[in-house]
Amino acid sequence: MSDSGVDSVIGPVVGPVSTSVPPPLISTVDLSKEFVVRERGRKSIVTAVRDVSLEIAAGETLGVVGESGSGKSTLGRCILGLETPSSGTVAFDGTIMTGLGHRELRGHQRDMQIIFQDPYSSLNPRRTALQQVMEPLEVLTDHTDMRARALEALDRVGISETQAERLPRSFSGGQRQRIAIARAIVVRPRFIVCDEPVSALDMSIQAQVTELLQELQRDLGLTYLFISHDLSVVREIATRTAVMYRGQIVELGPTPALFAEPKHPYTQRLLDAVLVPEPAIARERLAHFGASVRSPLEIPADSRLVEVLPGHWVREG
Ligand SMILES: Nc1ncnc2c1ncn2[C@@H]1O[C@H](COP(=O)(O)OP(=O)(O)OP(=O)(O)O)[C@@H](O)[C@H]1O
Ligand SMILES: [Mg+2]
Repeated sequence: MSDSGVDSVIGPVVGPVSTSVPPPLISTVDLSKEFVVRERGRKSIVTAVRDVSLEIAAGETLGVVGESGSGKSTLGRCILGLETPSSGTVAFDGTIMTGLGHRELRGHQRDMQIIFQDPYSSLNPRRTALQQVMEPLEVLTDHTDMRARALEALDRVGISETQAERLPRSFSGGQRQRIAIARAIVVRPRFIVCDEPVSALDMSIQAQVTELLQELQRDLGLTYLFISHDLSVVREIATRTAVMYRGQIVELGPTPALFAEPKHPYTQRLLDAVLVPEPAIARERLAHFGASVRSPLEIPADSRLVEVLPGHWVREG
């Protein structure tokens, strides 16, 4: 057992040990990230991610939910190597990435991409859609057939060749997010962190973009870490769901079981507050969820994740 109290890495339900089980595409062991913050001359430490051990199998979508500031984005960024973990490790397809040098990491950059929430700030207003989708190819590939490959990626997300020559300002929010998705898939990654990919979009457009992400996953064999405030989207697309609270995973399990019978008191509170039929109310409630909880849960530092049902882990204490 590790000193974090986690008995073992939380992986998908794979049944009895068998030689045919492929290794997980992503695994983290006791991953932690601390930030030193300076406020009015005083230094303090924020633990954004605390001892997270998890596995993501190839082809699955691991949903990550939790209130604002619970560490979801930091977890995603540490897995991608965009943040350096304070401790713990991240492995991609069996190779430990943590501590690798710049050059070795570069070799893996194509495999792992990210899609952000805001399609307005993630695109350069002065470059055409096509130019922006070609950028990752310029940085990460041998430059062959860049134009054709970028156009193919744009076509996959529903942006035509004529549209491809336009600047971002002539596209809607949904179309901009499609361009951002094309930028991510153009280098043929295997893993994508989707950090609130539909949260900034109108409700009617959210469903279309969610569907597109699912279609791309099927067609391109992608694996997703899918971070979202919107629990109904996670319920729809995540194979398994992890609930984060103050940097820790408090519950992780198969999505249908976790939503039907949440085990941890925090998950229960979150679902009670937020899973209401009216999406606008749900969004509003989640935005204020952290602040509205009168008695925050105290989780003992030495608490452990316990497997209460096959593949369903709950933090005790
Ligand atoms: N670069 C940074 N420097 C200092 N503190 C940071 C930094 N990045 C994140 N934090 C802090 O770490 C904690 C977790 O932040 P993170 O952005 O991962 O949360 P989140 O769950 O993604 O929140 P949200 O739902 O609002 O996006 C927060 O307390 C945040 O203020
Ligand atoms: Mg975030």
